[in-house]
Amino acid sequence: MTKVIYPGSFDPLTFGHIDVIERTRRLFDQVVVAIITNPSKQPLFTVEDRREMLEAIVKKRFPDVEVDVFHGLLVDYAKRKRAQAIVRGIRAVTDYEYEFQMALMNRRLAPQIETVFMMPAEQYSYLSSRLVKEIAELGGSVKGLVPDIVEKRLRKRLPKT
Ligand code: PNS
Repeated sequence: MTKVIYPGSFDPLTFGHIDVIERTRRLFDQVVVAIITNPSKQPLFTVEDRREMLEAIVKKRFPDVEVDVFHGLLVDYAKRKRAQAIVRGIRAVTDYEYEFQMALMNRRLAPQIETVFMMPAEQYSYLSSRLVKEIAELGGSVKGLVPDIVEKRLRKRLPKT
């Protein structure tokens, strides 16, 4: 059985993330989407909110995918979960440097765990959680960029949306 961790902040989940989950699911027997609880970052949504949104989407679309929360080193978490690989979505060249650095550092920490990069569909190549938040904060529409449940939560969290 092949098991992979798809880690991220998912603050919030976008259609780009969903696209990566769908592609990853076709290649691995088990997929765990793991939300980081990062005390040094100031997320818009609490980890509980992010988990609820992810669970709602995943349960409906991909019932075989697990949603989990982790803290600490990603490779330690991957070892605890007995995963062989980590998957990361890579959109444009600009993502590459950061992802390359992280993948190689993770390899140094745990050589047995492989990092796999997935390219989301072209229409999501310019989509990011950061831009979704910025647009929502400034009252723009995020329709077609995030699932309805995320759009509703953004509206609740940011009344200007
Ligand atoms: O969605 P993001 O914010 O780009 O995800 C970043 C994430 C969670 C993959 C990264 O911050 C991470 O792996 N954090 C866990 C801490 C860790 O292992 N740091 C060393 C990385 S080399």
